[in-house]
Amino acid sequence: MDKERELQSEVIRQRYNRTAKFYDLMDKMIPESIRRAAIGQATGNVLEVGVGTGKNLPFYREGCIVTGIDFSPGMLAKARQKVQKVKVPVTLLEMDAQHMSFPDNSFDTVVATCVFCSVPHPIQGLQEVRRVCKPSGAIVLLEHVRSENPLLGWVMDLFNPISLYLIGSNINRRTVENVRAAGISVHQVDNVGGNMVKLIVAGP
Ligand SMILES: C[S@@+](CC[C@H](N)C(=O)[O-])C[C@H]1O[C@@H](n2cnc3c(N)ncnc32)[C@H](O)[C@@H]1O
Repeated sequence: MDKERELQSEVIRQRYNRTAKFYDLMDKMIPESIRRAAIGQATGNVLEVGVGTGKNLPFYREGCIVTGIDFSPGMLAKARQKVQKVKVPVTLLEMDAQHMSFPDNSFDTVVATCVFCSVPHPIQGLQEVRRVCKPSGAIVLLEHVRSENPLLGWVMDLFNPISLYLIGSNINRRTVENVRAAGISVHQVDNVGGNMVKLIVAGP
């Protein structure tokens, strides 16, 4: 990664270290039932990118072996507190999604929820998702995106710097387009929260 990208990533990493202190109290955007439906699609050797405070960990089905990565030690510390209480084996690693240390074709399922709004260079991160997913594997993404309504989209663009500064998250990302730009084959996109929260089921 070049110096400028490294600096941008460091800024967002620090923001999430700060956000970690209140994330579980603040984050009510994705109802539990929607998280459960997304995570229920994971099977086998699973990578959760941007595992955050571990909100999805209770929803993995038995048989999954989960590796969760995040570049924020603050978020990971909160996730570690939850690991003992879940029914599947979980390994948590500090790692940047934009350059993962896993070999190609490592995972049966790659999952991310509300992550590619924050990854500083989302297409680079999504290319890594594609690389580490087995050719027969599944990619399951639950992401909030910029509204397709032009006025609302404009408002989201206007307020994006505030969200980016306070939390570390962009509210106006075009993540479905980014997924395609990364070369990932999109199988299905469902609106699960108006048209601004998408469940994207894809394959490498
Ligand atoms: C909005 S939080 C979502 C956390 C969790 N997935 C959830 O659904 O509650 C975004 C997470 O992505 C992580 N993240 C952002 N960019 C990342 C990157 N380049 N590599 C690894 N983690 C990243 C942040 O540290 C943060 O924990």
